[in-house]
Amino acid sequence: MLKKWRPLRSHTVNWLLGCAVTFSFLVAWLPGEENAIPQATTLPVNAKIPVPIHPDRTHFMGARACLDCHRSEYVAWLGTEHYKNPINRYEISDVSVAKKYLDQGGTLDRCYSCHSAPDEKNFGRLSVESGTSCESCHGAAGGDSGWLNRHAVYGPNVTTLAQETPKHYRERIDYCDQAGMIRPSHQYEVAKNCFRCHMIGDATLVSDEVGHPVIHEKFSLIPYLNSDIQHNFHLNQRANADAPTLDTLRRGLSSLERQRVYLVLGQLAKIEVALRYLVDFPSDESLEERYAGKLIDAFEEGADEIDYYVELLLDPEDDEIKALEEDAVESLLKVIELFEDFDDLEEQTRAAARETASEIAKIADGFLKEFGDGKRLAALDVVLEELDDAPSKPLQP
Ligand code: HEC
Ligand code: HEC
Ligand code: HEC
Ligand code: HEC
Repeated sequence: MLKKWRPLRSHTVNWLLGCAVTFSFLVAWLPGEENAIPQATTLPVNAKIPVPIHPDRTHFMGARACLDCHRSEYVAWLGTEHYKNPINRYEISDVSVAKKYLDQGGTLDRCYSCHSAPDEKNFGRLSVESGTSCESCHGAAGGDSGWLNRHAVYGPNVTTLAQETPKHYRERIDYCDQAGMIRPSHQYEVAKNCFRCHMIGDATLVSDEVGHPVIHEKFSLIPYLNSDIQHNFHLNQRANADAPTLDTLRRGLSSLERQRVYLVLGQLAKIEVALRYLVDFPSDESLEERYAGKLIDAFEEGADEIDYYVELLLDPEDDEIKALEEDAVESLLKVIELFEDFDDLEEQTRAAARETASEIAKIADGFLKEFGDGKRLAALDVVLEELDDAPSKPLQP
């Protein structure tokens, strides 16, 4: 018999009491006052999360398991492309991607992993939840060692956010990390996870014969994060903040500082995911080789962007901004070298892709340790100003 997992109801009482009450209660403990809220000073990098992630389907709880405690997030999600589209995407007609993919010997299972949240809890039978859902982005939450219950408990009995001890906080976060939770403070994991779906590792899918769009050419991390998918409601269910409220509370970064960090991480994440996809590529068919070229192009674009950022950091356009020393950006410069080495290879082997991907992950780790608070990256603000508009607007209740 499969164990049925239930969220802890006691915490939902907060919501039932009304968000206003909860909010004023929480506000009393915001920084500025003397309080015991444990601060995450360094950015934790969750190296345990591999990319691409294949969330364990038997551990999917479904979005309704989050509804009681995260009502505004849920409502915001209902308004997004992530929720709305899957059914018509699977339509079988002569011209549809689905039909053409089946004709090439593929199965719709492949589509579910991005367009829906596939779930195999019911005795191994596959059921599909509408849309890319909470756990597609935050990690599957259930199971015996899942993060669902643990992530929301601050201590014994009715310990509150402000009363949680630093030790309990650390243990709770470590536990959830091990269980595969992707939280907003792990900016690199968040970015990689977007690219896992917004970049495609299946050559047949994007071939001329099937015609699924090559989406990473359009995807741009920051505008996409600031679109209708934005749902930063945790400390105030009535206002969609421009940065996740819990992360802001704990790390104290402004939305602008977080975006500077995302700018660099987004390029690194795109490169790492492209390389991880190349590792899985069969290299003997022309079809695959044609698409492999697109993934290598993504690496080149990423390296070019990083090159531009480094230039700005060493020689800011605005004289008031302090230039960085060359040693500080050494590891970012390594990305450009890695691209050149990879591109020079006669044949881009899987082993080289794997090794280079690990190097990129290390560079991201080093970057976060050095620049994770975004404070010394002000020279990048000119890039942020030039970004494309978001494809849609964040929901405001
Ligand atoms: C029992 C109520 C409850 C349920 C059910 C619940 N959460 Fe939470 N969630 C919380 C609380 C409380 C926090 C704040 C934890 C903290 O302060 O670190 C939280 C925080 C989060 C965060 C932010 C963590 C961070 O460190 O920024 C995410 C993401 C999240 N929940 C996702 C989910 C998802 C996805 C589900 C459904 C699978 C879910 N939650 C179900 C109560 C709940
Ligand atoms: C790796 C993730 C991934 C997989 C696998 C995937 N898709 Fe998609 N698909 C996307 C994303 C992301 C978009 C949205 C592109 C955008 O609008 O930016 C998309 C868009 C689409 C569209 C709209 C195309 C258009 O031109 O507007 C259709 C139809 C579609 N997918 C069908 C399918 C079908 C059918 C399958 C399985 C055979 C599938 N997809 C597999 C990620 C995926
Ligand atoms: C599990 C796969 C998956 C993950 C993870 C994912 N997406 Fe998506 N996303 C999709 C699919 C599939 C679509 C297309 C939905 C459709 O039109 O059918 C999409 C569409 C979108 C759209 C609407 C785009 C448009 O052009 O209409 C935005 C914005 C978006 N995603 C942002 C993000 C961001 C930001 C992240 C990371 C935080 C992310 N997505 C993570 C699968 C995913
Ligand atoms: C497309 C991916 C995606 C989906 C789907 C998604 N989230 Fe998130 N969520 C994120 C990202 C990314 C952030 C942090 C945004 C940032 O870093 O700017 C976030 C932030 C959060 C937070 C923290 C908010 C705060 O104020 O601190 C909570 C809680 C949360 N999500 C819960 C949920 C729940 C519940 C669902 C489903 C109803 C859901 N998310 C669906 C990607 C997603």
